[in-house]
Amino acid sequence: MARNVLKVKEQKDRYQVCYMAGDDSGFDMMEGALLVLESLNLPIDWVRADLGWCMWEKSIQKFGEGDPRCNTVPPETIESIRKTDATLMAAITSKAGVKGFKSAILQMRQLFDLYINLRPAKTLPGVGTPLKGDPKVDIVLFRENTEDLYSAVEFFPLPAEHYALHKGMERFKKMGDVAVSWRVFSTVGCERIIRAAFEYAKATGRTTVHCCNKANVIRETDGLMKRLFLQIAKEYEQFGIKGIEENADATAMWLIKNPQDYQVIVASNVFGDILSDEASQLTGGLGFAPSGNIGEGTALFEPSSGSVPKYAHQYRVNPSAMVLTAKMMLEYLGLDDAAKKIEKALGEVLVESKPGTLTYDVLRDFRGDPNWEKNAASTIDMAAAIAGKINPAFAGKVLEDAKAKVHAMCDWTKTVGFED
Ligand code: IPM
Ligand code: MG
Repeated sequence: MARNVLKVKEQKDRYQVCYMAGDDSGFDMMEGALLVLESLNLPIDWVRADLGWCMWEKSIQKFGEGDPRCNTVPPETIESIRKTDATLMAAITSKAGVKGFKSAILQMRQLFDLYINLRPAKTLPGVGTPLKGDPKVDIVLFRENTEDLYSAVEFFPLPAEHYALHKGMERFKKMGDVAVSWRVFSTVGCERIIRAAFEYAKATGRTTVHCCNKANVIRETDGLMKRLFLQIAKEYEQFGIKGIEENADATAMWLIKNPQDYQVIVASNVFGDILSDEASQLTGGLGFAPSGNIGEGTALFEPSSGSVPKYAHQYRVNPSAMVLTAKMMLEYLGLDDAAKKIEKALGEVLVESKPGTLTYDVLRDFRGDPNWEKNAASTIDMAAAIAGKINPAFAGKVLEDAKAKVHAMCDWTKTVGFED
């Protein structure tokens, strides 16, 4: 039987985990998540690495603008991801229109062939949906993470010889310069993401897998995905799992109408990007949305959202997305008891809604508190409330010491990488 790629390759007594605080508010989220993890006494040795906009700036200072070594990811970071058992990463900042700038996360997905983007959307206690009847949502979305329009095979202007490649290009000859981005789907790429979704359904007792595509219009790429999906679905009928293929635009609609009809979704990169944001909105929004980028033997867990530069180092952002991301990582490492404790504790904090325990967004969006600004807890207060639920001893001096430790671990003035 094939190895379950959603689990670490080798179970160990102690793990080395790389952590990367990302940029801006990413540091605050990471500090909060690490505080929660501290309360669990985990068998983890942490290795710090950095990536993102902060490293882009550092590399420009070191090498000078336009130098090909300028990057958002230093070689030290790649090495740390490679040599550790898993990576926990906070949100990063992207800026449009910066020459030579390449997204750190897109580079990592390609470099480590992290072909599964695992994006669960599960209703949390005390966080309602914007939908009528407040339906319970429990969807796990498998987004293909390396191909499609993210293949980075793009042209502008289109070289003259490309017009001859397909007769459909004839009509564009009179349309001025043309931009083209190749939408590449490989057989291996489609098959492995589809199989990962079915294997997950089988392992967790889910009974349906939806494949969201546009094979009705995009005949070759989505057509390939749909054909392979229907073939593979047959293998899983014996396990009581039904494969349902559906147009992705219809999925976008049905997710709002009947989200409880979805269990596991498999989608190509772009459709998965869009549908996962939509699904997250059904379960609290991006403030609560975790994700995992998983390949054969390498996994990098990050929240679905980017960082919030205007809140950098203000400890305003909700730590939940990062805390739930850490929970996913613990499941990957086989530390399931610890993962369950995190989910339970977060739920309790959300339900109890005690003063000083919820960040501004929760008060504003889910509690209807007109004084959400004034009553907002900080990222660290909310994390401390979760940690206190997990481990009641996490108070007083123990808590203060842990706070100081994780604060030092996330010192944003001392990034690692591009050193001499
Ligand atoms: C995501 C994000 C990224 C993506 C961006 C930041 C490159 O939207 O992880 O969903 O498009 O994949
Ligand atoms: Mg996205």
